[in-house]
Amino acid sequence: MSDWIEKLTSEHIRTLSPYQSARRLFSASEGKQQIWLNANEAPEAAPSTIDYHAFNRYPDCQPDSLIQAYARYAAVQHDQVIATRGADEGIELIIRAFCQANKDNVLICPPTYGMYSISAETFAVGVKKVPLNNDFSLDIDGIKAVIDNVNVVFLCSPNNPTGTLIEQSQIIDVLELCKGKALVVVDEAYIEFCAETSVSNLLAPYPNLVILRTLSKAFALAGIRCGFTIASPSIIQTLLKVIAPYPVPAPVAQIAAESLSEEGVARMQNRVKTLSTALNQLSEEIAGFDGLELVGDLHANFVLFRHSLSTEIMQYLVSNNVFIRDQSKQQYLENCLRITVGSANQNAQLLRLLNSFFNEHDLGRDL
Ligand SMILES: Cc1ncc(COP(=O)(O)O)c(C=O)c1O
Repeated sequence: MSDWIEKLTSEHIRTLSPYQSARRLFSASEGKQQIWLNANEAPEAAPSTIDYHAFNRYPDCQPDSLIQAYARYAAVQHDQVIATRGADEGIELIIRAFCQANKDNVLICPPTYGMYSISAETFAVGVKKVPLNNDFSLDIDGIKAVIDNVNVVFLCSPNNPTGTLIEQSQIIDVLELCKGKALVVVDEAYIEFCAETSVSNLLAPYPNLVILRTLSKAFALAGIRCGFTIASPSIIQTLLKVIAPYPVPAPVAQIAAESLSEEGVARMQNRVKTLSTALNQLSEEIAGFDGLELVGDLHANFVLFRHSLSTEIMQYLVSNNVFIRDQSKQQYLENCLRITVGSANQNAQLLRLLNSFFNEHDLGRDL
């Protein structure tokens, strides 16, 4: 990089490492048969239709049909919803709207989703860390000790990458600690995989609660980049102050609204059933490999495991064009790899490769 560009770059950006998204680590290569099990996407696309007749016009900032459809799906009022470019943009808007650079802090509980801290760092907002307990529950005393200096707490349930849930009573503890002084954001990106655990029932009693949602996982629409933030109308109004003028492209609004129709939601629920059954089978199979220990739980669409040969397993799968996600740099997750559940075919291919790997290393299966 030229010296002057380096000098011109904001100080906090100069040292920032960007989020290593699944696609940055391994991008699609044409002509190669690749199996993507590294981004917690759905294995097959959802059908959609597009009407291009209004594409010459800018879209509404918050297309009404989309907001109404999501509010209906989430059983909240339309003024409690904002649509964003994925849940990732929701994270960014919350930090921009509620934290001042070089002054305020967010709190995260690792191991967890990486974008909370990266987004904060991009805006020169501090990141306090209170790691999860050994059983991946919240360390409430640890949170209590730092909460006075925090504007936004990010919790993730089901958590990525552990697939574990946070008990609602613990979320209430944090909401109480933050009452009248900080927002508690509960990231429910994977909530459709255990819908009954949503904390949306806490929106009415706790005006400091914010919920993040996405169409990228159970709705099989990661490619359209559409997420939602649900909160009290005054929080939504504040987020609308900082969002881009046209954040939801017209084709995205159409596809997203269609996915939220009765038929679309039923299709999503069937997908969730199929994937959850497949995930249970997959995790039972991989748990049988010698020296392999399952980590966390199965409340989303992925399984996390530890093995002393995690680097070799990763390399072996990558060299065979099967991509999974290395989580070993996360707190407590040394030697851990995460696999998104794929289609029946993809899971079978993955298991075949794992079998060959363990045979080549003279490691059997404890079945
Ligand atoms: C916990 C969690 N939150 C948010 C996101 C981002 O979702 P989106 O694709 O809607 O930006 C992800 C993506 O993997 C995630 O795992």
